Amino acid sequence: MSSHVARVFSGVQPTGNLHLGNYLGAIKNFVALQDTHPCLYCVVDLHAITVFQDPAELRHNTREVAAAFIAAGVDPKQHIIFNQAQVPEHAELAWVLNCVARMGWLNRMTQFKEKAGKDREKASVGLYVYPNLMAADILLYRATHVPVGEDQKQHIELARDIAQKFNNDFDKPDFFPQPEPLIQGPATRVMSLRDGTKKMSKSDPSDLARITMLDTPDEIARKIRKAKTDPDALPDTVSALDARPEAANLLGIYAALADRPLAGVVDEFAGAQFSKLKEELAELATATIGPIGAEMQRLMDDPTGVDAALADGAARARAIADGVMQDVRAAVGFLQTPAP
Ligand code: TYM
Repeated sequence: MSSHVARVFSGVQPTGNLHLGNYLGAIKNFVALQDTHPCLYCVVDLHAITVFQDPAELRHNTREVAAAFIAAGVDPKQHIIFNQAQVPEHAELAWVLNCVARMGWLNRMTQFKEKAGKDREKASVGLYVYPNLMAADILLYRATHVPVGEDQKQHIELARDIAQKFNNDFDKPDFFPQPEPLIQGPATRVMSLRDGTKKMSKSDPSDLARITMLDTPDEIARKIRKAKTDPDALPDTVSALDARPEAANLLGIYAALADRPLAGVVDEFAGAQFSKLKEELAELATATIGPIGAEMQRLMDDPTGVDAALADGAARARAIADGVMQDVRAAVGFLQTPAP
């Protein structure tokens, strides 16, 4: 049994176009976990710059993600929201973990292969070691639970391997906990509205592929109306969805937004045409996402409140990070001169 207290950590990149997948796969679950765990939610600006970001846009997008946390219902007083760059210990621990993780482990990361594309030689070195920084984020707080979408599972497994190797290398079996991924709900992998076999992503060139958190109710409804379908009526079993990616996606989104199990939603729409599902989904999505987007916009119009929440969160995060980092320096053998 681990002696570590339960603590939740997760991060979202400030790279613009925050979308329904980010909300249903991650942020909605962040909100729910606040009742049972102390939580830290981080806007990971250090991760964002693994691909070049315009500095003014990075500042804007950092505030936008923080505003999304707050507008969705994360309480920045009871819990901690902050941006990564305000806590320099993230980069410090990442360096130590760069020296623990093995090349072979990173070479297996599928997300690097996708993001680097064909011309891997031109990818930044940061993009390659990105998963080590992510491990540092989690381990810096000795977090035990990490709510994420399906696409981050491999990175969390790597964080577990890194934690284990650190503990073994320095002969401290209980130094870092083994963080557990929490991949929950009926929409852990929201797909593109234009292609049910492709993940909904911030970088899809088609704006119609994703619903963003800042879309107006009209835009939300229009994108759902234009979503790709297949010619058949909706199926009557969950297993039949395996062969029906577009139906699976829209029904999964509906279930997640309605906070209902997928099986019940499949029952409800069994035999119906896509048009009926789209109509009801548009209504549900505008009623749930619309107000969050409006509140985000309000927070962004005068970002002093968001900036203050991030600064306060960073100070409280740093108080935890500082203690863990002192333990790390001592474990590794770095000489630390006590303050005079
Ligand atoms: P990022 O910024 O790409 O995505 C933020 C969160 O949204 C989830 N997500 C999705 N969930 C369902 N369907 C989708 N189509 C979809 N697209 C994205 C992601 O799984 C994620 O939970 N490396 C992370 C950020 C990170 C992090 C961390 C996460 C940095 N440090 C420490 C957890 C713990 C990332 O790029 O997420």
